[in-house]
Amino acid sequence: MRQKIVAGNWKMNNNLEAGKKLAQEVLDKATGNEEAQIVLGTPFIHLTVLADSVAGKKGIEIAAQNCSDKASGAYTGETSAEMVKSTGTNYVIIGHSERREYFNETNAQLAAKVDLALAQELIPIFCCGESLEIREKEEHFSYVKQQLTESLFHLSSADFAKIVIAYEPIWAIGTGRTASSAQAQEMHAELRAHLASHFGQELADSCSILYGGSCKPSNAKEIFEGSDVDGGLIGGASLNANDFLAIVNSF
Ligand code: PGA
Repeated sequence: MRQKIVAGNWKMNNNLEAGKKLAQEVLDKATGNEEAQIVLGTPFIHLTVLADSVAGKKGIEIAAQNCSDKASGAYTGETSAEMVKSTGTNYVIIGHSERREYFNETNAQLAAKVDLALAQELIPIFCCGESLEIREKEEHFSYVKQQLTESLFHLSSADFAKIVIAYEPIWAIGTGRTASSAQAQEMHAELRAHLASHFGQELADSCSILYGGSCKPSNAKEIFEGSDVDGGLIGGASLNANDFLAIVNSF
Protein backbone atom coordinates (compact mmCIF):
# COMPACT_ATOMS: atom_id res chain seq x y z
CA MET A 1 0.00 0.00 0.00
CA ARG A 2 1.27 3.45 -0.90
CA GLN A 3 1.68 5.92 1.94
CA LYS A 4 -1.10 8.51 2.00
CA ILE A 5 0.28 11.96 2.80
CA VAL A 6 -1.30 15.33 3.40
CA ALA A 7 1.33 18.06 3.51
CA GLY A 8 0.66 21.67 4.39
CA ASN A 9 2.63 24.37 2.62
CA TRP A 10 2.46 27.49 4.76
CA LYS A 11 4.49 29.46 2.17
CA MET A 12 5.70 32.82 3.57
CA ASN A 13 3.04 33.02 6.25
CA ASN A 14 3.15 32.89 10.08
CA ASN A 15 5.81 34.52 12.23
CA LEU A 16 7.40 32.36 14.91
CA GLU A 17 4.62 32.74 17.48
CA ALA A 18 1.82 32.28 14.95
CA GLY A 19 3.53 29.19 13.52
CA LYS A 20 3.98 27.62 16.95
CA LYS A 21 0.31 28.28 17.70
CA LEU A 22 -0.91 26.77 14.42
CA ALA A 23 1.30 23.69 14.74
CA GLN A 24 0.15 23.21 18.34
CA GLU A 25 -3.46 23.40 17.26
CA VAL A 26 -2.83 20.74 14.61
CA LEU A 27 -1.07 18.57 17.20
CA ASP A 28 -3.87 19.04 19.74
CA LYS A 29 -6.63 18.23 17.28
CA ALA A 30 -4.98 15.34 15.44
CA THR A 31 -5.79 11.97 16.98
CA GLY A 32 -2.57 10.20 16.02
CA ASN A 33 -4.64 7.61 14.16
CA GLU A 34 -5.04 9.50 10.89
CA GLU A 35 -4.78 7.32 7.81
CA ALA A 36 -2.50 9.88 6.16
CA GLN A 37 0.95 10.98 7.21
CA ILE A 38 0.69 14.65 8.20
CA VAL A 39 3.51 16.96 7.12
CA LEU A 40 3.76 20.68 7.96
CA GLY A 41 5.83 22.60 5.41
CA THR A 42 7.01 25.69 7.25
CA PRO A 43 9.42 28.59 6.75
CA PHE A 44 12.97 27.86 7.88
CA ILE A 45 12.59 29.92 11.07
CA HIS A 46 10.09 27.37 12.46
CA LEU A 47 11.97 24.19 11.70
CA THR A 48 13.98 23.75 14.89
CA VAL A 49 11.19 24.45 17.31
CA LEU A 50 8.51 22.52 15.40
CA ALA A 51 10.70 19.51 14.63
CA ASP A 52 11.27 19.39 18.36
CA SER A 53 7.57 19.57 19.20
CA VAL A 54 6.62 16.72 16.83
CA ALA A 55 9.60 14.52 17.78
CA GLY A 56 8.33 11.14 18.92
CA LYS A 57 4.72 11.91 17.84
CA LYS A 58 3.18 9.38 15.52
CA GLY A 59 2.15 10.38 12.01
CA ILE A 60 3.31 14.00 11.94
CA GLU A 61 6.46 15.44 10.44
CA ILE A 62 7.90 18.83 9.49
CA ALA A 63 9.11 19.87 6.03
CA ALA A 64 11.27 22.74 4.87
CA GLN A 65 9.90 24.50 1.79
CA ASN A 66 13.24 24.61 -0.03
CA CYS A 67 16.93 23.91 0.33
CA SER A 68 19.98 25.13 -1.52
CA ASP A 69 21.40 23.43 -4.59
CA LYS A 70 24.85 23.90 -3.03
CA ALA A 71 26.20 21.84 -0.14
CA SER A 72 27.81 24.70 1.83
CA GLY A 73 29.91 27.82 1.51
CA ALA A 74 29.65 31.45 0.49
CA TYR A 75 25.99 31.57 -0.60
CA THR A 76 24.54 34.35 1.51
CA GLY A 77 20.94 33.78 2.50
CA GLU A 78 20.84 30.14 1.45
CA THR A 79 20.02 27.16 3.68
CA SER A 80 21.55 23.78 2.92
CA ALA A 81 19.92 20.36 3.09
CA GLU A 82 22.40 19.47 5.83
CA MET A 83 21.27 22.49 7.88
CA VAL A 84 17.61 21.53 7.41
CA LYS A 85 18.34 17.98 8.56
CA SER A 86 20.26 19.25 11.59
CA THR A 87 17.03 20.79 12.94
CA GLY A 88 15.37 17.36 13.14
CA THR A 89 13.27 18.02 10.04
CA ASN A 90 12.71 14.96 7.82
CA TYR A 91 11.04 16.32 4.67
CA VAL A 92 11.80 19.07 2.17
CA ILE A 93 9.57 20.49 -0.56
CA ILE A 94 11.61 20.87 -3.76
CA GLY A 95 10.69 22.62 -6.99
CA HIS A 96 7.46 24.32 -5.99
CA SER A 97 6.17 26.30 -8.97
CA GLU A 98 6.65 29.55 -7.04
CA ARG A 99 10.35 28.69 -6.69
CA ARG A 100 10.53 27.81 -10.38
CA GLU A 101 8.68 30.95 -11.45
CA TYR A 102 9.95 33.67 -9.08
CA PHE A 103 13.43 32.33 -8.38
CA ASN A 104 14.11 30.83 -11.81
CA GLU A 105 14.85 27.36 -10.50
CA THR A 106 15.60 24.98 -13.35
CA ASN A 107 15.09 21.24 -13.66
CA ALA A 108 18.88 20.78 -13.45
CA GLN A 109 19.14 22.81 -10.22
CA LEU A 110 16.24 20.85 -8.78
CA ALA A 111 18.03 17.60 -9.60
CA ALA A 112 20.98 18.88 -7.54
CA LYS A 113 18.66 19.78 -4.65
CA VAL A 114 17.09 16.32 -4.75
CA ASP A 115 20.56 14.73 -4.57
CA LEU A 116 21.65 16.91 -1.63
CA ALA A 117 18.38 16.25 0.22
CA LEU A 118 18.66 12.49 -0.27
CA ALA A 119 22.29 12.54 0.86
CA GLN A 120 21.01 13.99 4.15
CA GLU A 121 18.19 11.43 4.38
CA LEU A 122 15.58 14.11 3.87
CA ILE A 123 12.47 12.97 2.00
CA PRO A 124 11.96 15.26 -1.01
CA ILE A 125 8.41 16.26 -1.91
CA PHE A 126 9.19 17.00 -5.53
CA CYS A 127 6.71 19.40 -7.17
CA CYS A 128 5.77 19.50 -10.83
CA GLY A 129 2.97 21.06 -12.84
CA GLU A 130 2.09 23.05 -15.92
CA SER A 131 0.90 26.61 -16.56
CA LEU A 132 -2.49 27.38 -18.06
CA GLU A 133 -0.81 28.27 -21.33
CA ILE A 134 0.78 24.85 -21.59
CA ARG A 135 -2.48 23.11 -20.74
CA GLU A 136 -4.36 25.12 -23.34
CA LYS A 137 -1.78 24.04 -25.94
CA GLU A 138 -2.44 20.46 -24.77
CA GLU A 139 1.22 19.96 -23.96
CA HIS A 140 0.68 19.36 -20.26
CA PHE A 141 1.47 15.64 -20.17
CA SER A 142 4.77 15.92 -22.03
CA TYR A 143 5.75 19.07 -20.08
CA VAL A 144 5.24 17.56 -16.64
CA LYS A 145 6.80 14.24 -17.64
CA GLN A 146 9.87 16.15 -18.77
CA GLN A 147 10.10 17.85 -15.38
CA LEU A 148 10.28 14.39 -13.79
CA THR A 149 12.74 13.08 -16.37
CA GLU A 150 15.16 15.97 -15.98
CA SER A 151 15.12 16.16 -12.19
CA LEU A 152 14.56 12.55 -11.08
CA PHE A 153 15.55 10.03 -13.74
CA HIS A 154 19.23 10.12 -12.82
CA LEU A 155 18.39 8.59 -9.43
CA SER A 156 19.15 5.01 -8.49
CA SER A 157 16.13 2.81 -7.77
CA ALA A 158 17.00 2.89 -4.07
CA ASP A 159 17.00 6.70 -4.05
CA PHE A 160 13.88 7.02 -6.21
CA ALA A 161 12.05 4.83 -3.70
CA LYS A 162 12.34 7.68 -1.15
CA ILE A 163 10.76 10.37 -3.36
CA VAL A 164 7.28 11.82 -2.94
CA ILE A 165 5.83 13.68 -5.93
CA ALA A 166 3.31 16.52 -5.83
CA TYR A 167 1.47 17.40 -9.04
CA GLU A 168 0.34 21.00 -8.82
CA PRO A 169 -1.14 22.61 -11.93
CA ILE A 170 -0.07 26.26 -11.68
CA TRP A 171 -3.47 27.47 -12.85
CA ALA A 172 -5.03 25.84 -9.77
CA ILE A 173 -2.64 27.20 -7.14
CA GLY A 174 -4.23 29.85 -4.93
CA THR A 175 -6.80 30.60 -7.61
CA GLY A 176 -9.77 28.75 -6.19
CA ARG A 177 -9.89 26.90 -9.50
CA THR A 178 -9.20 23.26 -8.67
CA ALA A 179 -8.39 20.61 -11.23
CA SER A 180 -11.37 18.29 -11.50
CA SER A 181 -10.88 14.90 -9.86
CA ALA A 182 -10.79 13.43 -13.39
CA GLN A 183 -8.05 15.86 -14.48
CA ALA A 184 -5.98 15.06 -11.36
CA GLN A 185 -6.41 11.30 -11.73
CA GLU A 186 -5.61 11.45 -15.46
CA MET A 187 -2.33 13.29 -14.87
CA HIS A 188 -1.35 11.14 -11.89
CA ALA A 189 -1.90 7.95 -13.90
CA GLU A 190 0.12 9.40 -16.76
CA LEU A 191 2.98 10.31 -14.39
CA ARG A 192 2.93 6.91 -12.72
CA ALA A 193 3.17 5.21 -16.12
CA HIS A 194 6.08 7.48 -16.99
CA LEU A 195 7.84 6.55 -13.74
CA ALA A 196 7.15 2.86 -14.44
CA SER A 197 8.74 3.15 -17.89
CA HIS A 198 12.02 4.11 -16.24
CA PHE A 199 12.01 2.69 -12.70
CA GLY A 200 9.71 -0.30 -13.23
CA GLN A 201 6.09 -0.89 -12.26
CA GLU A 202 6.75 -1.93 -8.69
CA LEU A 203 8.64 1.23 -7.72
CA ALA A 204 6.19 3.43 -9.62
CA ASP A 205 3.31 1.76 -7.78
CA SER A 206 4.88 2.49 -4.42
CA CYS A 207 5.51 6.20 -5.12
CA SER A 208 3.08 8.57 -3.38
CA ILE A 209 1.80 11.19 -5.82
CA LEU A 210 0.02 14.11 -4.15
CA TYR A 211 -2.29 16.66 -5.77
CA GLY A 212 -1.99 20.36 -4.98
CA GLY A 213 -3.92 23.43 -6.08
CA SER A 214 -6.93 24.92 -4.26
CA CYS A 215 -7.54 21.70 -2.38
CA LYS A 216 -9.96 22.35 0.48
CA PRO A 217 -12.29 20.45 2.82
CA SER A 218 -15.14 20.69 0.30
CA ASN A 219 -13.27 19.06 -2.60
CA ALA A 220 -10.55 16.92 -1.00
CA LYS A 221 -12.63 13.77 -0.70
CA GLU A 222 -13.53 13.72 -4.36
CA ILE A 223 -9.95 14.46 -5.47
CA PHE A 224 -8.48 11.80 -3.16
CA GLU A 225 -10.84 9.20 -4.60
CA GLY A 226 -8.66 8.97 -7.72
CA SER A 227 -6.82 5.64 -7.57
CA ASP A 228 -3.50 7.34 -8.35
CA VAL A 229 -4.02 10.28 -6.01
CA ASP A 230 -2.30 9.56 -2.71
CA GLY A 231 -2.97 12.79 -0.85
CA GLY A 232 -2.43 16.50 -1.17
CA LEU A 233 -0.07 19.43 -0.88
CA ILE A 234 -2.19 22.12 0.70
CA GLY A 235 -1.45 25.85 0.62
CA GLY A 236 -4.14 28.27 1.79
CA ALA A 237 -6.24 25.69 3.64
CA SER A 238 -3.21 24.54 5.67
CA LEU A 239 -3.19 27.89 7.49
CA ASN A 240 -6.31 26.88 9.42
CA ALA A 241 -5.94 23.80 11.65
CA ASN A 242 -9.58 22.71 11.32
CA ASP A 243 -9.59 22.99 7.52
CA PHE A 244 -6.23 21.26 7.24
CA LEU A 245 -7.30 18.37 9.46
CA ALA A 246 -10.60 18.06 7.61
CA ILE A 247 -8.52 17.51 4.46
CA VAL A 248 -6.26 15.04 6.28
CA ASN A 249 -9.38 13.09 7.21
CA SER A 250 -10.87 13.12 3.71
CA PHE A 251 -9.80 9.61 2.69
P1 PGA B 1 -3.16 26.34 -2.62
O1 PGA B 1 -1.58 26.10 -2.77
O2 PGA B 1 -3.70 25.12 -1.86
O3 PGA B 1 -3.28 27.61 -1.81
O4 PGA B 1 -3.73 26.43 -3.97
C1 PGA B 1 -1.05 24.83 -3.01
C2 PGA B 1 0.45 24.93 -3.13
O5 PGA B 1 0.94 25.90 -3.74
O6 PGA B 1 1.19 24.06 -2.62
